[in-house]
Amino acid sequence: MTSPRPHRWLRRDENLRRAIGYGADYNPDQWPEEVWAEDIELMQQAGVNIVTPAVFSWARIQPGPDQWDFEWLDKVMDMLHAGGISVDLATATASPPPWLTTLHPEILPVNERGETLWPGARQQWRATSAVFREYALALVEKMARRYKDHPALASWHVSNELGCHNALDYSDEAAAGFREWLQERYGTVSELNRAWGTSFWSQRYTEWEQVLPPRIAPSYPNPTQQLDFRRFSSDALKDYLKAEVAVLDTVSPDVPVTTNFMVMGETDGVDYASWAPEIDFVANDHYRQACERPDDELSFSASLTSGIAGHRPWYLMEHATSAVNWQDINLTKSTAVMIHDALSHVSHGADSVAFFQWRASAAGAEKYHSGMVPHAGADSTLFRGVCELGAVLQALSPVTGSLKKRAQVALVFDYHSWWASELDSHPSASFRYRQEALDWYSALLEAGIAADVVPAGTPLSGYRAVITPGLYIVDEAIKAQLSEYVSDGGHLISTNFSGIADQNDHIYLGRYPGALRELLGIRVEEFSPLPEGASVALSNGSSGTLWSEPVTITDSGVETLVSYASGPFSGGPAITRRTAAVVTGSRPGSATYVSTRLGIDGVNAVLPVLLTEAGVEREMPLGVAGQVERVLRTDGVHNFVFLLNRTDRRVDVPDQPGTVLYGVRGDEPASLVLEGHGVAVLQRAAL
Ligand code: GAL
Repeated sequence: MTSPRPHRWLRRDENLRRAIGYGADYNPDQWPEEVWAEDIELMQQAGVNIVTPAVFSWARIQPGPDQWDFEWLDKVMDMLHAGGISVDLATATASPPPWLTTLHPEILPVNERGETLWPGARQQWRATSAVFREYALALVEKMARRYKDHPALASWHVSNELGCHNALDYSDEAAAGFREWLQERYGTVSELNRAWGTSFWSQRYTEWEQVLPPRIAPSYPNPTQQLDFRRFSSDALKDYLKAEVAVLDTVSPDVPVTTNFMVMGETDGVDYASWAPEIDFVANDHYRQACERPDDELSFSASLTSGIAGHRPWYLMEHATSAVNWQDINLTKSTAVMIHDALSHVSHGADSVAFFQWRASAAGAEKYHSGMVPHAGADSTLFRGVCELGAVLQALSPVTGSLKKRAQVALVFDYHSWWASELDSHPSASFRYRQEALDWYSALLEAGIAADVVPAGTPLSGYRAVITPGLYIVDEAIKAQLSEYVSDGGHLISTNFSGIADQNDHIYLGRYPGALRELLGIRVEEFSPLPEGASVALSNGSSGTLWSEPVTITDSGVETLVSYASGPFSGGPAITRRTAAVVTGSRPGSATYVSTRLGIDGVNAVLPVLLTEAGVEREMPLGVAGQVERVLRTDGVHNFVFLLNRTDRRVDVPDQPGTVLYGVRGDEPASLVLEGHGVAVLQRAAL
């Protein structure tokens, strides 16, 4: 593994260094030139200080193999600079033009059924295509040479949401790339056979050439082949990212490079934790999800983005001022929710807040997607809201550059466990890895406790409690890290379908939960998933769904915290806790196991016991906890306290001393009033 690039924030940022970035994707090439001057004026009115042009401008910049048209972009760059607006410039490679796909149809991706994904939308290219790479890198080089010294340029933005539509390509070229990747990983065909367990169903390979991506097959494709294909596909896109970064590094070494991730909802195409070391700062796109608790999902995603960014400042590259266009029913946002969402990202470390896009398009597939300037124009509630948010971000300038403060609790998130645990032919097709993690996160928020969502492998010492929901794949390194954490006095909470398989998705034999069995001091002989809609009663009055297990205690230091109160395991342990022997320090650590799906309410019922033992303190006053999320940033001299109302109702928060950077004080001394979805930000001396 290469060592990570050091963190570098936006260049040319004397103004940006002291201000939170504010802006959008800017697509002036969709508009007549007359509109551009008005754009700049309105941007200034809104407090915009950075925009991202040229994301989808390849066809305009390079109208033919040997034709280039930069004049319009030169003009846009100059106008932005004259207007005091910096530029996060896209390399423009996201969507190859029709002349290129006509000339080279072999760059088009192919789905698992062997169907070509044709041009006409966007991202119609294969990560493994040498031909695509040649054309794309030539464009990157042209862009870099032309604009590297432009005074508006603050950062390079590689492509756009790599893998959004083309993460999985099953073409012959991908097959060749996959084989190379496998040779690197396994060395020999016999080692591949071992890792993939090919004695099963007569799958033994004798030559590398026989190995293919997991294309549509008569039955379930080999699970390790599927898992490795996800890994390979993520790495293939990463390799492409690195190729663009290498060109930028050579031609324009002074300008930091980023690319926008998609840490949101069920987007699982790419292992972003492994991508972060390849760029100078992390950027993420997040859209409010159509799910039961969109605020919690947003907070979870922002927290995970921060974890991936090593808790250094990151750039929220896209979110929506109001509705998106790609859900079945696209809900609008109030100004309060727009401000809430933006500040939720800032609380988790975003130092730049941007939208897709500046002006809502008049034509094209995204014409019903909101922008900063809506179809209604600047004389609109939405644009007034956009200006209000600009003013709020200006008021929050002191926060810039501060780091997210470590929470008391960490929640471990692992893309490989996500991919593997949701493969076909498992005990229950209803197991949802991210939802399990999100439930625990929501329950903590309900209890008034913020958690850091961190990628697997993040150092854990210092966290009072660590939760690893459904950590299905546990390799030797993670196993050692978790047991060391517990023997050093940490409190681990593990849940069903954790520790089951190694990195090749082979079961750890000799009882579940495999790799974590000794640490948890229990054993399970068989999973017993529950039918859809069924539940099992628990001794503490709550109930479990989805999953149950006959748990046997194997270690004298293990106690039963909660038992099953109905079903075949009635009277047997449902939640256990092993108190570890003291190895270092004076506090004994513990390892808790939850063998059923508790859901948010069930987690809430058991959390007080688990967290008290771990010494986790409630962060919000009783009565307010659960209604208000509290997240801290710090610059060492000051702490910045973000209080976000999770409800639609007014909440009065007592006892919040400090300077109000944003928010409304109440009548009681040091109290705050948070209207529905309202936010307050306080500055306090760091103790
Ligand atoms: C993102 C993409 C943008 C725009 C946006 C709409 O996935 O990067 O270009 O399509 O979604 O929500």
